[in-house]
Amino acid sequence: MAKLIVFNFKMAPASIMEAKELFNIFNKYSKKIKNIKLIVTPPYIYLAEAKERIGSKCYLGAQDAFWFNRYVITGEISPKMLKSLKSQYVILGHSERREHLKETEEMINAKVKACLQDGLKPIVCIGEKERKNNDSAASFSVKKILFEQLNNIFQGIQIEKSSDLVIAYEPVWAIGTGKQQDLVEVQKMIDLIRFWLARRFSEDIAKNLPIIYGGSVNAQNIVSFLKLKESAGVLVGGASTKKNELTKILNKLIK
Ligand code: 13P
Repeated sequence: MAKLIVFNFKMAPASIMEAKELFNIFNKYSKKIKNIKLIVTPPYIYLAEAKERIGSKCYLGAQDAFWFNRYVITGEISPKMLKSLKSQYVILGHSERREHLKETEEMINAKVKACLQDGLKPIVCIGEKERKNNDSAASFSVKKILFEQLNNIFQGIQIEKSSDLVIAYEPVWAIGTGKQQDLVEVQKMIDLIRFWLARRFSEDIAKNLPIIYGGSVNAQNIVSFLKLKESAGVLVGGASTKKNELTKILNKLIK
């Protein structure tokens, strides 16, 4: 299966001019990249421009969506609006939204339901906030956090096909810090998520649902993360909007 790379621009770049330059880079390099699915998730206000510029080899996604389609929510964007812009993916439950906007797992659950209903593929973010000295994927505390997040976010949700959504394991302490998670630990955390998926949904979903890693992925380490057998790809944050770093990343993907 083709690996996925999601480029989460977060709240950058600061101007449409810079955003256009980034989209043009995606257009230029994506033509030469085989067997990897590139998903670009810029801020809402750049989505229309992205659709025009990223080229047919890249997919479009958003960084959030509201949990219903009624028009009475000032400042929010609905799944239907995203669909109309040909956005196919939507990141939900990112830890930055949980922290700064106090987004709860109940809200994330409602957003996942709304997006699935409207045919958008959620990229659901989960991950522990911190790791104490001896913590590992084998620690009770780490498993407890992971399984609680999954239980809450997927409460009452039935997934029909493994391709309906993506899970992103993003340890919060690795986001924007340059401290990426150890490859063996990523593998083990993905195994835990698959174990949970098998019990909650089915063996088929556990085996085939794409699970990706995010947290300080850059041009230097992306290839080793992509080589992980268990992982379906990566979620790139900060490096997505730095022209040089982005170009280096995309160059690494050309075989
Ligand atoms: P960084 O790649 O900047 O660590 O961000 C990861 C992330 O939050 C992607 O969603």
